[in-house]
Amino acid sequence: MSVAPRTDGVLVDRYGRVARDLRVSLTDKCNLRCTYCMPAEGLPWLAGPELLSDEEIVRLVRVAVERLGVTEVRFTGGEPLIRPGLVGIVAAVAALDPRPRISLTTNGIGLDRLAPALRTAGLDRVNVSLDTLDPGRFTQLTRRPRLDAVLAGLAGAAAAGLSPVKINSVLMRGVNEDEAPALLRFAVEHDYQLRIIEQMPLDAQHGWDRSTMVTADEILTSLRTRFDLSPDPAERGAAPAETWLVDGGPARVGVIASVTRPFCGDCDRTRLTADGQVRACLFATDESDLRAALRGGADDDDLAGRWRTAMWGKRAGHGIDDPTFLQPTRPMSAIGG
Ligand code: GTP
Ligand code: 5AD
Ligand code: SF4
Repeated sequence: MSVAPRTDGVLVDRYGRVARDLRVSLTDKCNLRCTYCMPAEGLPWLAGPELLSDEEIVRLVRVAVERLGVTEVRFTGGEPLIRPGLVGIVAAVAALDPRPRISLTTNGIGLDRLAPALRTAGLDRVNVSLDTLDPGRFTQLTRRPRLDAVLAGLAGAAAAGLSPVKINSVLMRGVNEDEAPALLRFAVEHDYQLRIIEQMPLDAQHGWDRSTMVTADEILTSLRTRFDLSPDPAERGAAPAETWLVDGGPARVGVIASVTRPFCGDCDRTRLTADGQVRACLFATDESDLRAALRGGADDDDLAGRWRTAMWGKRAGHGIDDPTFLQPTRPMSAIGG
């Protein structure tokens, strides 16, 4: 194995993993206040001048696609639909050569209105966060009464052809841990693909507690009370979700078990924050400042080289189980998941 970062080609790390999947956070703000993510009063948001402009974002994505071998671009937030320039950013990224696949992870609010324009701009597919189908629980969990808006967003995405439409559900003990079968029934009926997620230690309030986390084993046991789950013959690749066929298929359900069944050995991700920092890992405690380089006049080669160096330093895994584990100071809402 080589001992220094490569000065050309793809984003490879010292463990031989290649990052082809870029997740770009477009804003740290959100119009919900999910209890497992943000305090009720919100967080100190990034100031306007700290945020990359639309042009700066497109430039960095272009560098990643043209020089670093990135083939998948996912836009995240906070809530990416509240970024005013979103449709234009998607269109500019869809015009890159080679054209990357483009997806969005959103809470779904406003997606019914925006889905057709996003589709036309070149968005391929969406993942929508939805943790409960009960209106009262939704309001308690997100601190906003917007369940109907999310359901409308899901329907709008499907109608616009943004498929597969995936649903992300985080289960929490004593809150919605009993809802896995109902969520799967709903997803199967509407042809959405459900993925149930183990909660990770990324909340701004540092309230995560391993002993109360709902585990993949519990999620599967709960689903199996109502459904037959069989192994999915499709290749998993670097996907965080392990999938099962539901009642023989073709419907599928996924479980994202970052904590109890980590998948770091196959990781193909690199991340860019809304203020222009490269993160080699969701749980990275260090970042690489591309915004300063870009605003300081760096050319594309220089930016690509800095990005390679950042990824070379990626750690083998998230280390949640290590006694020395430290939660990143940047909260989930400013990383984008
Ligand atoms: P698909 O490509 O549609 O399967 O998306 P995805 O599951 O990779 O991304 P999404 O934005 O829907 O995220 C779903 C969950 O997976 C969220 O809880 C993310 O935080 C988590 N996730 C995404 N990428 C990673 C990763 O690289 N590592 C870990 N540990 N979790 C991740
Ligand atoms: N652990 C796991 N997933 C989380 N998400 C938000 N916070 C956490 C957490 N602490 C999910 C959201 C969204 C995706 C981007 O990440 O529900 O679907
Ligand atoms: Fe990759 Fe880090 Fe996620 Fe593990 S925790 S899969 S290394 S981004």
